Amino acid sequence: MSLSNADAQKRAAAMQAVKLVEDGMTLGLGTGSTAAWFVTLLGERVQDGLRVRGVPTSETTAALARQCGIEVIGLDQVGFETGGRIDLCVDGVDEVDGQNRAIKGGGGALLREKIVAAGSDRVVYIADASKRVETLGAFSLPVEVIPFAVAFVSSRIAALGCGPVLRQTADSAEFRTDENNVVLDCPFAVIDDPESLAAELALIPGVVEHGLFLGMIDEMLFG
Ligand code: A5P
Repeated sequence: MSLSNADAQKRAAAMQAVKLVEDGMTLGLGTGSTAAWFVTLLGERVQDGLRVRGVPTSETTAALARQCGIEVIGLDQVGFETGGRIDLCVDGVDEVDGQNRAIKGGGGALLREKIVAAGSDRVVYIADASKRVETLGAFSLPVEVIPFAVAFVSSRIAALGCGPVLRQTADSAEFRTDENNVVLDCPFAVIDDPESLAAELALIPGVVEHGLFLGMIDEMLFG
C-alpha cells in the first residue's frame, strides 16, 4: 500500500501512540483520519492479545473500533463515580501551536472529544507536520450550537470579528453532530488570544462547546 506523505506521517504518529498503550487500559478513542490510524493499529495489537477498552468520541469511531475488534464502552461505563478514569486519550488536531493549544472539531466531534479528553489521565494527540502553526486561526474554529440558538449565536460571534458559516454536509444538508446540534465554522484567520476568545464563546447562551482545546494536551506526537 503506498501512502501519501501526510498519511505516512499520520500513521507514524499513531504508531508512536500505540506504543504507549498497556494491557488493561481504558482508552479515549479520537475521531478523524489520524485517530483512525491509531484505532486501526490498536486493533492489530488487540488481535495479538492486548486487552483494552475504548471510549469512542464519535459514532464513526465506535463503528471502526468494533470492526477492529476493540471492546467499546460508553462514558458512563468508565466508573467515574467510583474513581474510575480513562488512562489515555489519543486523538488528532486540526491546528496546534507551540504551547499545545489546539483547534479541533473539523470532523464535528469536538464536544465528545473535549469531554473524553477532560476525563482522561493522559492526553496524547497525534498529527502530521501540516497541523503545526505559529498562531491558531487559519483553520475555521468549529463551534457547536443548539439548533434553536443558531441565528442568535451567529450574530454574537460575528460581533467578535468573523463571519460564521453554518456547516453543511457534502450534499448540502445541514450538518448535525452526534448530539444532534449544528456547527458554526468561524473563520477568525488569526486568534491572538485563544484564552480570551474561549472565555467569550463560553459565555454565549446556546453555545454547547467550542473547538479551542487549551491546557488539555499533555503531549503532541508528530509523525
Ligand atoms: C474531529 O472532530 C476533529 O477534532 C479531528 O480530530 C480533527 O479534525 C483532525 O482530523 P484529521 O486527523 O482527519 O485531520
